[in-house]
Amino acid sequence: MSRAIIEVRNLRKEYPVEDETVVALDRVNLAIPQGQICCIFGESGSGKSTLLNQLAGMEKPTRGGVRIGGVPVSRLSERELAAFRQKHLGFVFQSYNLLPNLTAVENVAMPLMFRGVPKQQRERAARGVLKRVGLGHRLNHYPRQMSGGQQQRVGIARAFVTRPEVVFADEPTGNLDSKTKTEVMDMICAFARDFHQTIVLVTHDPQMASYADRIVTLLDGRIVDDRLNMPHQRSITSASDISAPPIKPITSTEPTANPRSTQR
Ligand SMILES: Nc1ncnc2c1ncn2[C@@H]1O[C@H](COP(=O)(O)OP(=O)(O)O)[C@@H](O)[C@H]1O
Ligand SMILES: [Mg+2]
Repeated sequence: MSRAIIEVRNLRKEYPVEDETVVALDRVNLAIPQGQICCIFGESGSGKSTLLNQLAGMEKPTRGGVRIGGVPVSRLSERELAAFRQKHLGFVFQSYNLLPNLTAVENVAMPLMFRGVPKQQRERAARGVLKRVGLGHRLNHYPRQMSGGQQQRVGIARAFVTRPEVVFADEPTGNLDSKTKTEVMDMICAFARDFHQTIVLVTHDPQMASYADRIVTLLDGRIVDDRLNMPHQRSITSASDISAPPIKPITSTEPTANPRSTQR
């Protein structure tokens, strides 16, 4: 079996609200092997987004810790985290989070800019990934000129253009109609399978969860069920001709202090 790329140990997250404390996560233990499409499933308010935020280092846990590729993300400084995210993680958001004044190509090329890839090269890579997600005819469109489904495909292209080891997706289909939902999930899974990437998918939608290799169910901040799932495979577009940098294994247990130092 693949080694665990994400390790969560005895995680607890409390939020102070007025004079009370909301326990959003409690005693969460989880090991996610490399290459797994793991769904965090549960009803609204069960703690899914809170868990994802701790996994990706967006928030510090109250207790316990998270390691990704051996790196203790829950203990990194903001600066170290920013560098770690740029290098190893990708994100797909429910609300797409595209920059409105940038075209599709420019939005997708952005993470490569942070990695120090020259403009021509990063725009070529961006065009390649956009073609892969079926947007070859919308390369120079701005987000407002695209449908929700098209915007999310740009969001997926942006998340995968750097070939990150782990992609986090919080309700990526939450704003989409059912046909588009299916297309979007097919694309995320096709990228992940082709490059043996790990996906943490947060959803409350059983149909979206059914794409995952594993479904971890949260209720009131605790894991109440954790089972393997036979994902329904569809014939999917291959993502193998993306011209982006190859995946580098996370080797060091310490983050690089300088985000640009190891880039090509
Ligand atoms: N920043 C916050 N401050 C206070 N309470 C929060 C905060 N974020 C989440 N919560 C609470 O933690 C619980 C889990 O929330 P969340 O992780 O957003 O659930 P889900 O994503 O499953 O809908 C909820 O009770 C929510 O109200
Ligand atoms: Mg949520």
